[in-house]
Amino acid sequence: MPETFRAIAPGRVNLIGDHTDYTGGLVFPMAIDRSTVIEFSESNVVDLVSGDVEGDGWLRYVEAVRRLVPGARGVSGRVSTSIPIGAGLSSSAALEVASALAFGYAGSAVDLAVLCRQAEHDATGVPCGIMDQLCIAAGQAGRATMIDCRTLDVTHVPVPDSVRVVVRFVASRTLEGSEYATRVAECAAAEAAVGPLRDASLRDVAGIGDERVRRRAVHVVSENARVRSFASALASYDFGLAGEIMLEGHRSLVENFEVSTSAMDRVVREMAETPGVYGARMTGGGFGGCVVALCDPEARVDGWVVTAADGARLERC
Ligand code: GLA
Repeated sequence: MPETFRAIAPGRVNLIGDHTDYTGGLVFPMAIDRSTVIEFSESNVVDLVSGDVEGDGWLRYVEAVRRLVPGARGVSGRVSTSIPIGAGLSSSAALEVASALAFGYAGSAVDLAVLCRQAEHDATGVPCGIMDQLCIAAGQAGRATMIDCRTLDVTHVPVPDSVRVVVRFVASRTLEGSEYATRVAECAAAEAAVGPLRDASLRDVAGIGDERVRRRAVHVVSENARVRSFASALASYDFGLAGEIMLEGHRSLVENFEVSTSAMDRVVREMAETPGVYGARMTGGGFGGCVVALCDPEARVDGWVVTAADGARLERC
């Protein structure tokens, strides 16, 4: 019997810091206890079948990764996942990272993430940032991963046991690719006017002539600041403040960045009004996906409770 292995990669949920990664900003996601698993043995060919993923669209991600892994080995096995597909919990990034490990990639978490982000660009044409892949590669149980997307430094920040993170699925994402690319271009236009948004202040961006580009920049600059204040609120157990920061971040994604939907706004309002919920916001790229809430453990709120999980790894079966 050939030896069998498991390449495991978790999904992620972003607690705060959306649409900041592709301008080298700050993000605060955590790897979650739902994952994609490739159970495989080495082979002369690549022969992967799906355990429970519908269709064969997932194969293009695997193929994009295979092309990038130097000396990729052949693997024969089965792919299964407990990450809902198209829900904004990074099922595609998890598949990329698990695939790279299965193909024998053994670089650092940062190198793994950079390779997998390139695979996402190649497979979809969407110029995504590094947040999803790096969080998935570098996650640690019980901790969120605060990432500086300029230096790619990861800081593991404990998520206290006295709060719960609850994710509620709202709708499958639509239009995300083209809208996303538009936002990336608008942020580039803002940077052409004022320099790196990461270093800019609200006063700097107030002078941007184009009204829409100005609002995009206001979001990015204020969101970077929210990541820092959220991290310190969490560290000082000030969950009320952390929740307010999430709600403020949601408002900015609605008004300044225009990536939310009315269904997501409704769910954010409903969750935020539920007793024991400190705050809620849409999470990820937008145009559907999920809302994430920070809650008291006793709060009665519909959704999936997710816990901060370890990042991707390879195990012997
Ligand atoms: C998607 C992208 C990420 C990030 C988020 C928004 O999930 O893949 O790189 O830009 O949107 O924060």
